[in-house]
Amino acid sequence: MTRILLIKLLFVSSVLSAQPLTSEQMIQRGDEVSAKLLQTLGGELKNQIQNGGLIKALHFCSQNALILTDKIAKESGVKIKRISLLNRNPLNHPSAEEKKVIEAWQLASNQGELLPSHTIYNGIYYKPIIINNEVCLKCHGTLQSESPIAKSIKNSYPEDKAVGYKMGDLRGAIQVSF
Ligand code: HEC
Repeated sequence: MTRILLIKLLFVSSVLSAQPLTSEQMIQRGDEVSAKLLQTLGGELKNQIQNGGLIKALHFCSQNALILTDKIAKESGVKIKRISLLNRNPLNHPSAEEKKVIEAWQLASNQGELLPSHTIYNGIYYKPIIINNEVCLKCHGTLQSESPIAKSIKNSYPEDKAVGYKMGDLRGAIQVSF
């Protein structure tokens, strides 16, 4: 009798510990992790532009954005991706599922609606990334095709789609999975 009770208790506790996060917990963790990522990448970008100029910052992003993203993911015990319908880095191309989320936001934004601060879809957290700083336009705005920065971008990313943005545009998403 006691043995059965013990087994039952063990079973219940293992089910409890394996319980998936609630939506509230996902939102809280997702907000924390994405804020940390934006702060880190934004801080590095500013630093690199100030200390080395735009081209140096471009190369820094190429070489380190994914490494820094993975580092924060590991420290936080989650997986993080940055994705965009118009991606620069081929590794940031969204899957069909991920596209659905960004396309729904894009539609809302085209209709003049405010974007949500996050969306939970199939148990995964997504946060819209907006072009919210003039500095973004230096590498994602409408670039003169003969300018050094446009040439460097084309050199590193022959398939680049991430230009032509304006302030306030939806740029993509941070995705956090648990
Ligand atoms: C110095 C040039 C530069 C500036 C300024 C810049 N970016 Fe980028 N961005 C890049 C490069 C290079 C990549 C591709 C490398 C990577 O991050 O994976 C990229 C990639 C991205 C991505 C990932 C999706 C993709 O297209 O690959 C997002 C999202 C993004 N940038 C948003 C922004 C935002 C928002 C700002 C302004 C705060 C900004 N960027 C400013 C160079 C820049």
